Amino acid sequence: MPTSPSAQGARAAVVCGLGAWLPPRAVDNDELASRIDTSDDWIRTRTGIRTRHFVSPGMPTSRLATEAGARALESAGLDSVDAVVLATTTPDRPCPATAPLVAHRLGLTGRPAFDVSAVCTGFLYALATAAALITSGAAEHILVIGADAFSTIVDPEERSTAVVFGDGAGAVVLRAGGAAEPGAVGRVELGADGSLADLITVRAGGSETRSTDVPPSRADAHFSMAGQEVFFHAVTRMAGASRTAIADAGWRAEEVDRLVGHQANARILHAVGERLDIPRDRIVIHLDRVGNTAAASIPLALAHAQSTGGLGAGDRVVLSAFGGGATWGATALTWPDLKTA
Ligand code: UT7
Repeated sequence: MPTSPSAQGARAAVVCGLGAWLPPRAVDNDELASRIDTSDDWIRTRTGIRTRHFVSPGMPTSRLATEAGARALESAGLDSVDAVVLATTTPDRPCPATAPLVAHRLGLTGRPAFDVSAVCTGFLYALATAAALITSGAAEHILVIGADAFSTIVDPEERSTAVVFGDGAGAVVLRAGGAAEPGAVGRVELGADGSLADLITVRAGGSETRSTDVPPSRADAHFSMAGQEVFFHAVTRMAGASRTAIADAGWRAEEVDRLVGHQANARILHAVGERLDIPRDRIVIHLDRVGNTAAASIPLALAHAQSTGGLGAGDRVVLSAFGGGATWGATALTWPDLKTA
């Protein structure tokens, strides 16, 4: 069992870099309302979203991930890491994984690189995996990226999903350090329930449909979500996992300075805050600018909060997410003093 001899406590993974990137094309609610049956008022009231960014034709997830990854490495002051872990639901191709290509483009050819698939909880699953590689002694530095281009899988004509999602990428660099240091990632509370697999899905395109000769319907070829049911499970699971993460950190709820939850819907984040007794002014809201960016949403929200003064060194932060699978997770950390790239 590897341990650190330093006064900083047991060996742990410590956040030492943060970066984010959005594709340039911004699409506001009015633009969507000009082509589908929706309105700025409905979208803002039901979700809190005002605008989002979409990839332009020919811009794959690897581009988003590479841009965010490069910024996180710059923020950490590093040009090399021991591994790249990429959380995504929209890989460039069904095969191979996207992470090796991203690592290659970042000058990290030869390093282990792999994708993690846990939809909107993907970043926390990737963070937990990378942190475990570091605490085990298998790596000293790891780049963890969350990147998604949901505009490539939602049906642009399907108003219940087309207005909700946006594209982007965010990334952190983890280094080996001590559990008592600012930035040390606490135990990541993770969970999954495959009986809820149909709530958030793209039915066609995998072995289930490819093993038949039946061409997929338009609905099956695109992303679908049972919004109200997902809403209920998201609130329940994010609140439960956050409560565990807060207790693991040895904090009381009133000591949490920032709740950085998966940015799916402002109403979900407010409901989670109410269950945890975390007031609204401590809940980071970034979805108004980017929509639901799936695996990218937590690191994008962190980068935005840090660059706008909404998150500072020493803040007690809880990260929490719910996504397809169903999957969920949460962790707690004291925010480190980082350079923003
Ligand atoms: O990222 C993974 C986790 N995801 C989430 O956590 C998402 C959770 N779910 C949600 O955020 C919400 O359920 C949505 C934002 C997706 C939908 O909001 P809602 O308040 O649950 O709306 P609804 O689906 O219950 O639909 C209410 C009404 C319906 O009309 P009727 O049947 O009442 O006449 C919909 O047809 O709103 C209608 N509607 C719309 N109207 C205008 C649905 N989408 C739209 C739209 N514009 N874009």
